[in-house]
Amino acid sequence: MANEMNNTITDWHNDHLYFAHLLDLLQNQIGAFFEGRHPNYRLIAKIVEYMCDYGDRIHHPREDVAFSLLVKRDPDIQLVVNRLLQEHLVIAETSAQLLDHFKGAEWDVITPRDVLVAQAAVYLAYYRNHLSSEEKLVMPRTGEMLTAEDWAKVGAAVVPESVHPVCGISLQEHFATLRKQIHDEEQLDR
Ligand SMILES: [Fe+2]
Ligand SMILES: [Fe+2]
Repeated sequence: MANEMNNTITDWHNDHLYFAHLLDLLQNQIGAFFEGRHPNYRLIAKIVEYMCDYGDRIHHPREDVAFSLLVKRDPDIQLVVNRLLQEHLVIAETSAQLLDHFKGAEWDVITPRDVLVAQAAVYLAYYRNHLSSEEKLVMPRTGEMLTAEDWAKVGAAVVPESVHPVCGISLQEHFATLRKQIHDEEQLDR
């Protein structure tokens, strides 16, 4: 039980660290854009795609299960958890909008620079705040309250070997490829 729990919490925490890294990369790109330089649109699009797609298919489904089990074990935390669940909806929506805009920018469809920069800045602040609430409040509480059976349910919420409905390869393969593409763009960009 301890292992299942520790592995899941470690994966969860590592996802957050990687998201935080992607947000930093995104902030640098937006900074370049704001100063009138050309950002790396491919890098931006890959980052937002990862945040969006990995969030929807892997990260949030696990959190949704863990959070609802936590509320069962500790009803006092319901308000905090409800807020985080609402934030998942906002994050999914704003990620999709951002992805559309930056894809547009790459293809020279005009979105006013100020709108993009403002939207990205709100997204960055909102997402960082969300990560910090989970790390500080909810994850430690989950570690204390969830049972072995609960952790098994959290683990079963996602099957990384299952096929990505759009890409036709396994989720884990698809996301490993995206991480590699982000890494390669990052190197090119130095
Ligand atoms: Fe979350
Ligand atoms: Fe999270």
